[in-house]
Amino acid sequence: MTRTQMADGLSFSRVVLGFWRVDEWKLDTGQLIRFLEECLDLGITTMDHADIYGNYTAEGIFGEAVKKRPDLAKKMEIVTKCTIVYPSGNIRVKYYDSSEKWIVGQVEKSLACMHIDHIDALLLHRPDPFMDPGEVAGAFDRLKKEGKVRHFGVSNYLPHEYRMLKSYCNVPLITDQVELSCLRMENLENGVIPMCLEERIHPMIWSPLAGGKIFTGQGEVEIRLRETLELIRKETGAESIDEIAFAWLFSHPAGMVPITGSGEIELVKKPAAALRYQLTREQWFMIWTAVKGHKVL
Ligand SMILES: NC(=O)c1ccc[n+]([C@@H]2O[C@H](COP(=O)([O-])OP(=O)(O)OC[C@H]3O[C@@H](n4cnc5c(N)ncnc54)[C@H](OP(=O)(O)O)[C@@H]3O)[C@@H](O)[C@H]2O)c1
Repeated sequence: MTRTQMADGLSFSRVVLGFWRVDEWKLDTGQLIRFLEECLDLGITTMDHADIYGNYTAEGIFGEAVKKRPDLAKKMEIVTKCTIVYPSGNIRVKYYDSSEKWIVGQVEKSLACMHIDHIDALLLHRPDPFMDPGEVAGAFDRLKKEGKVRHFGVSNYLPHEYRMLKSYCNVPLITDQVELSCLRMENLENGVIPMCLEERIHPMIWSPLAGGKIFTGQGEVEIRLRETLELIRKETGAESIDEIAFAWLFSHPAGMVPITGSGEIELVKKPAAALRYQLTREQWFMIWTAVKGHKVL
């Protein structure tokens, strides 16, 4: 598995394992340990979490595995996110909290849940219209100084939001984790990917298979996309169309780092296999054209 240099002193495996759906995987701790071992054997060492995943249970599920096998966590880079707050108890509405107190408190909870002593990369989950960027910078400085978090970044930020926060921070923002797939190309068009290239950072890519819709979608676009993926699959000799959907991301010059959301090792092997194929420009634009329904200008 190739690796991507995300920052000084931090590289990620080119394929990242995401824990958003971990509670749906229905693995007991022993099974999860075995799955993590298999991922590590494939070279997938980077784990993507968020405090809210699994309705606040995902980090704990992972943490039970780490408690039994702390050696596994030592081979991993652990990413987590915070700032989304779900309604519960006396919280009446979903909202964002990017205050220093909230960020520091959530990191401390994440460390305790996952049974780890530091987070490799902490991302702010969503842009917060009520953000005080000075407070975020203060939280980042404090967490870095205390050794609780080594690197910082953002998720779902548009270029102006990234640049605004960056201008307040004393630490670099090492990534923007955004949605991108053959089916969801908005972040190719809204300036995010050019910003990553400009900033010399690598975007982490969520829902690289559009949450499975690449296979299940029955609309005109999805059907056209599958036909094109199948054509390119035959040309490249890939085993299945998901490999081509991942190759479409890997082939892009921005050095994208996709996060797979599957808990099945045979499916996790697909993005790893996709690293073998570099799509030609023509193949890349065949997929683009199939989804857009028109040629480039
Ligand atoms: N920053 C953010 O705002 C944000 C938002 C959403 C997600 N994320 C991160 O991104 C990760 C991935 O997102 P995602 O789960 O939506 O990714 P995804 O890979 O696009 O979708 C996963 C779904 O597709 C299926 N699937 C995965 N690989 C497959 C394959 N090779 N063949 C057939 N089906 C396949 C899975 O099936 P099975 O259920 O059978 O495995 C699962 O239901 C999350 O775990 C999370 O870490 C971040």
